[in-house]
Amino acid sequence: MADAIRTDDISPMDIDARVDAVLQEMTLEEKAGQLNSVDASSPDPGSRLADDIRAGRVGAVLNQVELHEVCALQHIALEETRLGIPLLFSRDVIHGFKTVFPLPLGQAASWNPDVVREGARIAAAEAAATGVRWTFAPMVDISRDARWGRIAESLGEDPVLAAALGAAMVEGFQGDDLSAPGSIAACVKHYAGYGASEAGRDYAATSIADNEMRNVYLPPFKAAAEAGAATFMTSFGDIDGVPATGNDYLINGILRGEIGFEGLMISDWDSIGQLIVHGFCESPQEAARLAAEAGVDMDMMSSAFVDFMPTLVREGQMSEQVLDTMARRVLTLKFQLGVMDDPYADVHRHGTPPVRDAMAVAYQAALESLVLLKNQDDVLPLDFGTLKSLTIVGPLADQPVEQMGTWVFDGDAARSVTPVTALKEALSGKAEVKFVPGLTHSRDIRHDGFQAAVDATASSDAVIVCLGEEAILSGEAHCRADITLPGAQLELVHALKAAGKPVIGVIMAGRPLALTNVIECFDALIYAWHPGSMGGPALVDILSGAQTPSGKLPVSFPRSVGQIPIHYNRKNSGRPPEPSKVIHIDDIPVGAGQTSLGMSSFHLDDGYQPLYPFGFGLSYTSFEYGEVQVSAPEFASGESLDVDVELTNVGERDAIEVVQLYIRDRAASLTRPMRELIAFQRVSLKAGETQTVRFTLTETDLAFSRRDKTFGAEPGWFDVWVGRDSTTQNGAEFKLTSAQ
Ligand code: NOJ
Repeated sequence: MADAIRTDDISPMDIDARVDAVLQEMTLEEKAGQLNSVDASSPDPGSRLADDIRAGRVGAVLNQVELHEVCALQHIALEETRLGIPLLFSRDVIHGFKTVFPLPLGQAASWNPDVVREGARIAAAEAAATGVRWTFAPMVDISRDARWGRIAESLGEDPVLAAALGAAMVEGFQGDDLSAPGSIAACVKHYAGYGASEAGRDYAATSIADNEMRNVYLPPFKAAAEAGAATFMTSFGDIDGVPATGNDYLINGILRGEIGFEGLMISDWDSIGQLIVHGFCESPQEAARLAAEAGVDMDMMSSAFVDFMPTLVREGQMSEQVLDTMARRVLTLKFQLGVMDDPYADVHRHGTPPVRDAMAVAYQAALESLVLLKNQDDVLPLDFGTLKSLTIVGPLADQPVEQMGTWVFDGDAARSVTPVTALKEALSGKAEVKFVPGLTHSRDIRHDGFQAAVDATASSDAVIVCLGEEAILSGEAHCRADITLPGAQLELVHALKAAGKPVIGVIMAGRPLALTNVIECFDALIYAWHPGSMGGPALVDILSGAQTPSGKLPVSFPRSVGQIPIHYNRKNSGRPPEPSKVIHIDDIPVGAGQTSLGMSSFHLDDGYQPLYPFGFGLSYTSFEYGEVQVSAPEFASGESLDVDVELTNVGERDAIEVVQLYIRDRAASLTRPMRELIAFQRVSLKAGETQTVRFTLTETDLAFSRRDKTFGAEPGWFDVWVGRDSTTQNGAEFKLTSAQ
């Protein structure tokens, strides 16, 4: 830092006092400058960015990862501004940096906070080595709509799973000490309710009632805050008429007031300016005031804070205290990261983790993300010892860039090992591997490559067909109204099926696709999401049986787009579907009477159940669940209840099972979901081994945001189920006799 604001006489540990010392020296303009976050990658930001930094109008810079540029900009901030306050460099490091891990939705299929934490740790270290000290992740938006492109970036539909994995990501990025080499600040986004965009169309408005906001959308944010997340980002969304970036109730009220978050809140890209576009205010000055009053501290890309905060204070429309609080949060973050003391530290201190280690984590993450959805007649695993010939087909079989998925600005495609490469390597010298794409890309509608693909299968033992969507079809602003396989992929699979060899499907996509019209063609199907750098080797080890699948779906797979939003934790309604009365449109007799089908909640053409439920995933072994045993028929506030189940691996392979515990609160002041995931455990069992899996429940596990908005449980009867997915019927009941 420049000599003007030395804080050397203050203990380095006393960040508050050091921030005070700096703040005292700052003008209104300099304080407002710290609130401004500017993009370095927009066309020709060059000299304007440098001038703005020189003028003290920039606190943080997005999207500069060229080390020499980072150093050059930092040099300007340090040497050519009055106070010499260093810049903070940020980037969207979402699921890896150079080494790419599966999409967040794929990582969520691991149900493994440890592998998620490790991936974030590697990503942080790789990013920090280029000067990036702040990532805009994790995204913990609950996502129930597969049309929404950003479901790819999410951790799925369930608040408990997303909370556990989001917290793990925060821990991975930040480590134990933000200032340590290889640590970067996390930014939990998008606060809040962004995933509920109407019709799954990005940026569209949402209408989320308070009960749903508090009990479905907010729990992962709370968990991430409790994990120590340094920063949050607002959502682009409009929630029931109040855009998130101007939402005092959500930010100051709930996040800061109730949850106790003390860190920094940044807007999303120009979302302060967009308050005008929403129709929430008329001028940038008013937008700046509304956002600041709501609790936003830093402005990403609208420049409203830097342009108008000094005037707002001078005109008495805002107190200087509010501005101080905002600038304080920015400076605090810079001190916490060690940037104030060692602004160039990134260059000298942050070594990159060895590529070998990073790739090993990418392999493990990819392996655990793969979900085996179908395995008819145990066609998998293939016996690589006896195979003579394999054909691999499909537009995504050999696409190093596409398998990285969305949000990989810095991903090194040279590190991607594709299924084709991995398969050829695994079978080299043992069996013939023929690769015939059939289609050039996922949206290709030409059939002229089909015959070659079909011919290749003639002498093969099986065909592996890699289908799905390219990376560009999901992610921000990339939503689809039709979520079936694009292009002529369906026809390709039909052609391959007709050729008679077992068809093993592998789907790479950033969302759950509606697979109803194609599922019958596959003898086996592995859902691979976009699996990242090591997708190929992970997939091949599952195909060969060197590894046993353990992934479980973090979202329900709809049968058709018309079922959306579909999620396991729905409400029962007053007229729930009666399975025996669910009839298909084709089976309704002509002239049937209005009430003859029963009067319950289902679609005539698609029932009410998804194609695959939340929590579903097959293994190469079988697990048998014993009856659920509760330690007592009832328990009271302050006590606990053990829920035990005996789990046996009755197959012939060692394997991991994700054991899931669900409850239903039968009656409450607010109606509760029919099923709620409360806890899960990844249990590793050898072939033939039995283990008692114990979950210990307390009142807090049964708590929710009640009708009076207090958080707590309510006495009464509960159902509890423990099983392999959200449809398990393996249940018991208990009573909570009192609650706080
Ligand atoms: C807009 C996206 O919504 C957000 O997730 C991202 O972090 C920012 N742009 C910065 O790139």
